[in-house]
Amino acid sequence: MNRNKVLRDWERFMKEHRIGIIDPNVLFPAIENAIRCSDDSMKAGIVELLPEAQSIIDHLESGAPRLTWNELRTLSDEELVARQDRTGDMAGLFNPSQYEVPLMDEILKLMDGRPNFFLDIGCGAGHRSNFIAAKRLALKCLGIDLSELAVAKALRFAEHFRSGVEFMKASCTQLPLDDGHVDFVLMADVLPWVMEWQKAIAEIGRVLKPDGKLLLVYNFMPDSRMQIPPADAITALNQAGITSERFDMPTLNAVFIRGRRRWNN
Ligand SMILES: C[S@@+](CC[C@H](N)C(=O)[O-])C[C@H]1O[C@@H](n2cnc3c(N)ncnc32)[C@H](O)[C@@H]1O
Repeated sequence: MNRNKVLRDWERFMKEHRIGIIDPNVLFPAIENAIRCSDDSMKAGIVELLPEAQSIIDHLESGAPRLTWNELRTLSDEELVARQDRTGDMAGLFNPSQYEVPLMDEILKLMDGRPNFFLDIGCGAGHRSNFIAAKRLALKCLGIDLSELAVAKALRFAEHFRSGVEFMKASCTQLPLDDGHVDFVLMADVLPWVMEWQKAIAEIGRVLKPDGKLLLVYNFMPDSRMQIPPADAITALNQAGITSERFDMPTLNAVFIRGRRRWNN
């Protein structure tokens, strides 16, 4: 595999599909301002630039209250995701990312060849797994997400690309897979949304094959739904049989961890 070529294709793919081109910290206030000044042409411009913005505009215009972080913490994962599907009130369906190219590079380096089974946990709109499957970088790809809307989007994407990747609705705390089946797990920007995040980590340890790899990325912000200090995540990973290390990437506030499943616990 020519990594540089794959990365150039990935960059082109993201531009074509307008993935991660705007930092949500800029996008959300811009949309809110556009709505406040009821400037339709500004709204139309934002939607033209990023079609996903429409669901955020619809939600803001519906007047449905935005929940505070404390209120969000009272919801179960199912309730949280169902609410997100109804209101479009989360960035879950498009990717907030300045780190897409370095992240894909890290995936390719860690893969070190073509894994048999690539699992994208909390895949959102599934753009990464669709790209990986379409490029035949893994033999089989599966994306799971608790959101029906995310899975529907990811499946539409898969049909469009004929990527052959499977997507299904499932919770990361109860993966619909047998033990020791997966060669590579990607879990990007999901863990702090999961109430029982330690259970999700235990599930990753269960489904990974011995020597299988993990790339875990999450935001560690003071206002995250679940606060997961990186040292706690690494301890939980170790308990799940995954030897892990944190590494740095040029981005804000995100925690990057790579791991490898031990042969035995
Ligand atoms: C911020 S998005 C990240 C999406 C994608 N991984 C990405 O990087 O673009 C978080 C995703 O996690 C999903 N999610 C939240 N709780 C979940 C759970 N318990 N099990 C599986 N997916 C979950 C949400 O539906 C959402 O699609």
